[in-house]
Amino acid sequence: MCGIIGYVGPDLCADTLIGALSKLEYRGYDSAGIAVIDEGGALVTRRAEGKLGNLVKRLREEPVDGRTGIGHTRWATHGAPTESNAHPHRSGSIAVIHNGIIENHLELKAELREHGHEFTSETDTEVFAHLVDHYRTVRGLALPEAVRQAVIRLHGAYAVVVVDAKTPGMLVGARMASPLVLGVGEGANYLASDAAALLSHTRDMVFIEDGQVVTLTPGGVELRDVASGELLPVAPVHVTWSPAMAEKGGYKHFMLKEIHEQPRAIGDTLRGRVSLERNAVNLPEVPLTRDDLASFRQIYVVACGTSWHAGLVGRYLFEDLAGLSPHVELASELRYRKAPMDERTLFIAVSQSGETADTLAALRDAKAKGARCIAICNVLGSSIPRECEGTVYTHAGPEIGVASTKAFTTQVAALHLIALHFGRLLGRLDDGAMAAELAALLHVPSVIETLLLAGEAPYEEIARAWHDRTSMLFLGRGSLFPMALEGALKLKEISYIHAEGYAAGEMKHGPIALIDEKTPTIILNPRDGHYAKVRSNLSEVRARSGPVCVVATEGDADAGDAATFCLTVPDVPEHVLPLVMAVPMQLIAYHMADFKGTDVDQPRNLAKSVTVE
Ligand code: M6R
Repeated sequence: MCGIIGYVGPDLCADTLIGALSKLEYRGYDSAGIAVIDEGGALVTRRAEGKLGNLVKRLREEPVDGRTGIGHTRWATHGAPTESNAHPHRSGSIAVIHNGIIENHLELKAELREHGHEFTSETDTEVFAHLVDHYRTVRGLALPEAVRQAVIRLHGAYAVVVVDAKTPGMLVGARMASPLVLGVGEGANYLASDAAALLSHTRDMVFIEDGQVVTLTPGGVELRDVASGELLPVAPVHVTWSPAMAEKGGYKHFMLKEIHEQPRAIGDTLRGRVSLERNAVNLPEVPLTRDDLASFRQIYVVACGTSWHAGLVGRYLFEDLAGLSPHVELASELRYRKAPMDERTLFIAVSQSGETADTLAALRDAKAKGARCIAICNVLGSSIPRECEGTVYTHAGPEIGVASTKAFTTQVAALHLIALHFGRLLGRLDDGAMAAELAALLHVPSVIETLLLAGEAPYEEIARAWHDRTSMLFLGRGSLFPMALEGALKLKEISYIHAEGYAAGEMKHGPIALIDEKTPTIILNPRDGHYAKVRSNLSEVRARSGPVCVVATEGDADAGDAATFCLTVPDVPEHVLPLVMAVPMQLIAYHMADFKGTDVDQPRNLAKSVTVE
């Protein structure tokens, strides 16, 4: 995981590096550091354990600046989150930053020790600094060639950026299985882990591919194939995300801002893909014909975490709207199974970041077995879309909060569109049903807008009452079962309260034993097809003195009867209920965490994109 940034240009860059690291901190926050070549030509590093704020403090006490520099925010894999393990790592005149895991670092370390190199950290990364230094000093290679030769020796995943005090005004970066984006500026060039970190400087980006090495000077960029050393064309794309999208915009936390952005994000994801005049979904990104669809023997929807929950919602939509029943799998499990797949398999990877290691590995495995692969993804140019035949991009905009919110609802909207598209192709939806589905989907942004405008006092009240509980349950049936899972995941990841999501019908098979007067249950009980059954489950909890928060349909006069708290959502058709129900799940978690004072946007132990196994 980890976030990396590099700058080369005419300006002093310490602030630029820190500004970019603040946008990348979601990727890891165990330590942070920068290295710059100062005005005297010396390579100077500043590093600090813990969050970026500690580094900023250190820089205030011991300022340093230069016009070539690199910066890093770490999610520890090899070595404790200490200052000595913080990046940049150095050897001689070289400093490097790295995101990924160098799997053969022990072997390389042993080899370098024989050449007299001494190591000061427990990290895998430090060997790379020594290796580049070795190629520079022993073989006398120029920096770009030394980096190219060094990365040829690496096994594993890496995005690396290197500076050398002997060549100020130059950065060299390389990528294998970890993201690296080149930002092309005016008289300045940048490298970063994602596009959002560079938006305030440039929107012209090149997504560096696996097996490429790039050399940056203030006035130019040279891209080469690592294996052959051949020059490659540099073709920047213009990113449409705006700089403001990566700012908090007056909200207390990114997560809260991102919850409030959902009407816009869902609207953008639907825009241009729904035609009411033609009563159709327009998805040229999914290059599948009716015959292709009819030929598939199985469909897999594969993801991790919240994206997996979106996939689970998608299964109900695929079954209801297209008569297709996909296997919805956790990528971290599927990749190690021997699931039979072939060219009659459709594989749909769902990932906000497009970089999740397990999802990427499961995708590669499916591809190798001949499956047709498409993606649902939020980040343009990321790894997963690049390996798929087609990608339905969600237009959520940058999601900075570690807890996924707008990425989730836009994934569900994208799955809904795909289900409708498949349903039409397979002749499962008549004109009337299609028109009703499209109208319901298009209405979702304004429904969520209304829900958000109603204010957050009820959630604050729940947080005040229950923030000190140690365990909570979330119950739902049908497509609201995945929403119970999602509600529980949101709560545990940001408030650190243990929570379990359960299918309400499963309560009696075990979890009901957990119920007592101290264990609250959130019950999703709108006026849908499961209303009466869930209502019975609610009574069962109450009969055992369990406090209950029911999430019901507005105007349901009976809803609050047996509950401690009653939240309501507008009355919407069943297929869009999960989208609307997402909002109270997110706000309960947000206000519980905010009341407790946890770090909402950067909860402990987590990172936004999990690029390691
Ligand atoms: O980027 P991805 O969608 O592939 O990420 C998958 C999970 O790591 C992610 O959804 C994670 O569970 C979130 N922190 C949940 O809020």
